[in-house]
Amino acid sequence: MITNQWYLVCFENELEKGKILKRKIIGEELVIFKTQNGSVAVLQDRCCHRNVHLSLGYVKGEHIKCGYHGWEFGTTGKCEHIPSLPPDEKIPKAACIKSYDVVVKYKAVWAYFGDPEKKAATEIPPFHELSKWPMVYNYHVVKGNIQLAAESLFDSHHINHVHRKSIKTLMGNLHHQKPDYHLSITNTSLKGWYLRDNENSILEKIYFGFDEKVETHFAFWFPNSSKLHLHFPAHLTMPARQMVIYEHFYQIDEENVMMIQITAWHQIFQYTPWFAKWFMLKKSMKIVEEDIAFLESNKYWHSKEKLNDLLIKPDELTFEFTKLWNKNLKQNASTTYQKEATEL
Ligand code: FES
Ligand SMILES: [Fe+2]
Repeated sequence: MITNQWYLVCFENELEKGKILKRKIIGEELVIFKTQNGSVAVLQDRCCHRNVHLSLGYVKGEHIKCGYHGWEFGTTGKCEHIPSLPPDEKIPKAACIKSYDVVVKYKAVWAYFGDPEKKAATEIPPFHELSKWPMVYNYHVVKGNIQLAAESLFDSHHINHVHRKSIKTLMGNLHHQKPDYHLSITNTSLKGWYLRDNENSILEKIYFGFDEKVETHFAFWFPNSSKLHLHFPAHLTMPARQMVIYEHFYQIDEENVMMIQITAWHQIFQYTPWFAKWFMLKKSMKIVEEDIAFLESNKYWHSKEKLNDLLIKPDELTFEFTKLWNKNLKQNASTTYQKEATEL
């Protein structure tokens, strides 16, 4: 499990005052809730009193209240009220639940998992467009390998095949053996752009443009986020338009991977926002389903040596991604992260 990271636990519009959401991220069970005053908290989904699920309780004012004996916990996880406590007794010091640092950013709630000392040096992936553009999102649980899931969005050659019935034309085709990816690589991320051939249908060309090439930008931030960004230039009476697809992924547990796909757009179908939303959601559901069929079919990796032998020149992106992934995974494994014991 990859720690010392910010993970996206939910979207802001999923949180209603008084409502409890449940999640499991890198093996840790969580409750997420919004208090009466609007504070957002992420706590471990275990009441410290008798170790039952806190999510069986409810939110009351600024507290989450365990459904079993009614102990009440604040957003920091500290127990602040015990209904059955005699007046001459104090709340035990150890009556505390693990809490996670939370940031609300890009219309989403992010929680930090890991060594507190490493938090300052760890960044939330830059999902800038989500703050200003309309967007849709969907969650998918995949029985597959996290590394393959991480690579799947920006894998340039799979679009012609996996997505031949969905976005192949919109995204353009890739005939060249090896495009120029204009790669720039840092210690924890890679990004770049390349050109695909515009093979849109005539109707799509009327809307998206007759340019011969479609500019495709991509990025990956270790270990949990990737991005595809399409630019459609101004054309006829239409302004320049853009569309981004983000994918955020993490291991739920040893077997399952969560893939959250988020699509945001700018100036596309701007006069019919309801249609844009319906269209983007429908397309993005189809795209993820097409990917998942392949992700779930990958059960066993070849040995590393064999994998490298099978890379061909157009697999440059896979090659660079794999290098980055392995380097960071090694570093992450060498850091220690002590889960706080919840037993009293
Ligand atoms: S188990 Fe939660 S209050 Fe007793
Ligand atoms: Fe895909």
